[in-house]
Amino acid sequence: MIVVPGTASQVLAHRVAELLGAELAGVTCRRFPDGELYLRVEGDFRGEECVVVQSTPPPQDRNIFELLALLETLRDAGAAELTAAVPYLAYGRQDRAFKPGEAVTSRVLAKHVSLNADRFIGVNLHKRSILDYFDVEAVELDASPLLGRYFRQRLKGRRAVIAPDAGASGMAEKVAEVLGCEHDHLEKKRLGPGEVVLQQKELDVEGVQVVLVDDIIDSGGSMVEAMKAIESQGAESVHVSCVHALATGSAIARLLAGGASEVAGTDTIASQVSVISVAEMLASVLK
Ligand code: R5P
Repeated sequence: MIVVPGTASQVLAHRVAELLGAELAGVTCRRFPDGELYLRVEGDFRGEECVVVQSTPPPQDRNIFELLALLETLRDAGAAELTAAVPYLAYGRQDRAFKPGEAVTSRVLAKHVSLNADRFIGVNLHKRSILDYFDVEAVELDASPLLGRYFRQRLKGRRAVIAPDAGASGMAEKVAEVLGCEHDHLEKKRLGPGEVVLQQKELDVEGVQVVLVDDIIDSGGSMVEAMKAIESQGAESVHVSCVHALATGSAIARLLAGGASEVAGTDTIASQVSVISVAEMLASVLK
């Protein structure tokens, strides 16, 4: 097996290759003065099983085009089996046309990945139904237990897991299962990008170390509002966590200034808070 790193996931690809004892392919990836991509893969890929590891955080369209170019180039180079391991899949929020005429961009992306990949592996997709848009085998991995294990090591004493909205309540349940504690979720209403309101809800968090979990931290707005609700009810500390730390702009500073004891994310996106690795989970399905 040969692991082929995309520029957005170089460290993760290296970790996965090491765990698999697989070769890590050399890739030259640079930009022409006008921004267009020059890409070249080095090695003999004929008859090989290849795994491209490339996340698609911002700049999404660049990372997506690089992913598609890697897949097609490896196919051209004679790869026998191609897996697209995309730890963070962009465009998950536009998984359907909410108004007539809107592009279902998550389907556009899935269809294009399916042109050359034989298999897709993603981690905590924004909606599980996105798997149906792929024309090839598509698998979703769940990093929630990894968040649970991380906090099991760090937090002793009374703990609780809270999700900022109903969409993340399943994640909260799985994290709580690992921690052996209670879980709950808040009700969120989005007013606009980075602007949310949460409904008042009584939580049993007095004197408790609270782990807040969500699939994505983008502007940090959802987590900031959730922290306010939790702190006002006497929580001992709030530990903010997510799978995909998009953390745009000053999101992390905003969370820390808002009272988070820490912000922890996985390395599906290489970020300042990528302290939990999904490499073992990826490697175990690739074996
Ligand atoms: C939305 O449904 C997602 O699960 C996250 O809650 C959202 O993307 C977080 O965005 P932000 O950090 O901007 O509030």
